[in-house]
Amino acid sequence: MLKLLFTPIKVGSLELKNRIVMPAMHYLASWEGMVLPHHVDYFAERARGGAALIIIGGCTIDETSGAVNMLSAKDDKFIPGLAGLAKEVHAHGAKIAAQLYHAGRYSHSMFMGGKQSVSSSPIRSRFTGETPRELSIPEIKQVQRNYALAAARIQRAGFDAVEVIASAGYLISQFLSPLVNRRRDEYGGDFENRMRFGLEVIAEVRREVGSDFPIIVRVAGNEFMDGGLANEEARLFSRGIEKAGANMINVTGGWHETRVPQITMGLPRGGFVYLAQGIKQAVSIPVMACNRISDPILADRILRDGQADLIGFARGLIADPELPNKAREGRFDEINYCIACNQGCFDPIFEGKPQTCLVNARAGAERKRAIEPVSSRKKVMVIGGGPAGMEAARVAALRGHEVCLYEKNECLGGQLPLAAAPAGREEFLTFVRYLEGQMKKLNVTVHMGTEATPLQVDREKPEVVIVATGAEPAIPGIKGADRPNVVLAWDVLSGKADTGKEVVIIGGGAVGLETALLLARKGTIDADTLYFLTINQAEKPETIQGLLCRGLKKVTVLEMLKRAGQDIGRSTRWAILQDLSRLGVRTLSKALAKEITERGVVIEREGREELIPGDTVVLATGAKPVNSLYDQIKSRVGEIHVIGDAKNPRKALEAVAEGFEAGRMI
Ligand SMILES: Cc1cc2nc3c(=O)[nH]c(=O)nc-3n(C[C@H](O)[C@H](O)[C@H](O)COP(=O)(O)O)c2cc1C
Repeated sequence: MLKLLFTPIKVGSLELKNRIVMPAMHYLASWEGMVLPHHVDYFAERARGGAALIIIGGCTIDETSGAVNMLSAKDDKFIPGLAGLAKEVHAHGAKIAAQLYHAGRYSHSMFMGGKQSVSSSPIRSRFTGETPRELSIPEIKQVQRNYALAAARIQRAGFDAVEVIASAGYLISQFLSPLVNRRRDEYGGDFENRMRFGLEVIAEVRREVGSDFPIIVRVAGNEFMDGGLANEEARLFSRGIEKAGANMINVTGGWHETRVPQITMGLPRGGFVYLAQGIKQAVSIPVMACNRISDPILADRILRDGQADLIGFARGLIADPELPNKAREGRFDEINYCIACNQGCFDPIFEGKPQTCLVNARAGAERKRAIEPVSSRKKVMVIGGGPAGMEAARVAALRGHEVCLYEKNECLGGQLPLAAAPAGREEFLTFVRYLEGQMKKLNVTVHMGTEATPLQVDREKPEVVIVATGAEPAIPGIKGADRPNVVLAWDVLSGKADTGKEVVIIGGGAVGLETALLLARKGTIDADTLYFLTINQAEKPETIQGLLCRGLKKVTVLEMLKRAGQDIGRSTRWAILQDLSRLGVRTLSKALAKEITERGVVIEREGREELIPGDTVVLATGAKPVNSLYDQIKSRVGEIHVIGDAKNPRKALEAVAEGFEAGRMI
């Protein structure tokens, strides 16, 4: 079925066994730039899983290039750790490269021991809220030298290649783009001058590492910034990169400051492949396509259609390190796909929390959370087929226990199908499908539509019971909450309840905003209609924009906190709020719902009462645990655990992690 994904390719002098590359992700924290044991475990597992090339980093190249907790190549003292890592990755059959990283004005002083960031020009960064210092010409030469010296260290550590990042709005982009480069010397002004810094970096690295050592350059296929560079300029730059001595171009999306999402699930799978295709048409060295290509069948199609020569699977390999081997062996139904939720990988970066993965609780803790086979097989009864229950059942069965699972509804997945209901959020179902497949594969006996009772527990005679009975909507004590014009957000998301034309949603957390998305999109055109109207020029572009954004319902969200979407991760929250605002949804924060009437919701806001009109009121006011079964059965079984929302309603990330641990510990 796969024709090209598992064929070898040469990148300069480097032969890769297939076309699967793990792009750089500064994913696990380092201590002052050092390679730590968790890095070795993490990358070794991805190498064992069958990827051809693993790019580690970004690695800082000097004192102002990035945060102190990133991997580093800025000093010789890092070489032994890097060498150990390279040896381990090689031992598991993959090649290894390191990304040389300089974030320029995207580096925050707080994460660089108080140092001010540097850039082409002193333009304030919206990303950090700080203004960088302009590099002088001697400093430019020194930074270029730092790239080259770092590359030489990577080479001495036994790596197979280096990658220079010239994308994401980092330092090289900051020279390239007229948006922040205001210089009047030979590094500013016209495009040729603005390309100079990056091209000199590549030439300097080439001089330092010699003619044989492969150099990869990562470019933004489009900056996606107002007035910034598009694919046309990226092609010109890529030609320059090839001439300067690079062996491969890795194409991603835009800057960190852009309002075009780069890695949320709103970006369709393969949505940026066209950027790589544009660049492939301009150069003769191999080109890699990236972003949201975690499906090997899609990846193979991209290669066969000639859109790119290699495929970057970044979070796809966090989610399932074994994805390449599974794909090679045709075990597609066993792949645990990345769902681009960012809950475990990207969002923790902002919160200083340890990194992991919603669909793979082992990610980042490969050794600590190893799944060991059991010595004595137990009978395990899991009650509840949401993400926590299914994950517990999966891990317990994988270890060799005899597992049965009871689900009172007719479908598995708990609240995940609700989260997947709005357009653009469907990936949550991908994980449900994976877990369902695992239940079958691991011979978990699943009883659907069966509410577990104490009697059933007596009949099953389990040695261990896992209560994963989830949560139910919490009904607030607001006057009028029992009126006939009131429905629950969960019922709207599941399709059980309909709403009128003017809807007021009480609660601006994730559930409330997802419900608003679903309702506001009703009556807007879908992707196929958009394509049809556009290709046939049937409607004017401004009419099409209206058809995409104006639905049939007027939706208002009421949030009593300062900001809506507080429980949504930072990487996704802004994109959802942006979508809602484009769809005309009104979001009122600091709005306390006092009473629901037949005409809408009476709120108190900034000391004043007002009526927010609506024919339907939707309650999205949180959830409460459902776990009464625990008390009824705890004296009847030897070992019992309560996990997930049944313990305390939280995100799917926590539910799955708890399910994993329960399955691993029993
Ligand atoms: C946690 C995290 C850290 C990242 N760090 C880097 C980085 O240091 N350098 C870089 O070029 N890209 C970085 N990226 C972007 C990825 O390389 C990749 O382009 C992005 O995740 C989209 O690809 P995917 O959909 O296959 O995950 C990072 C992504 C994540 C999720």
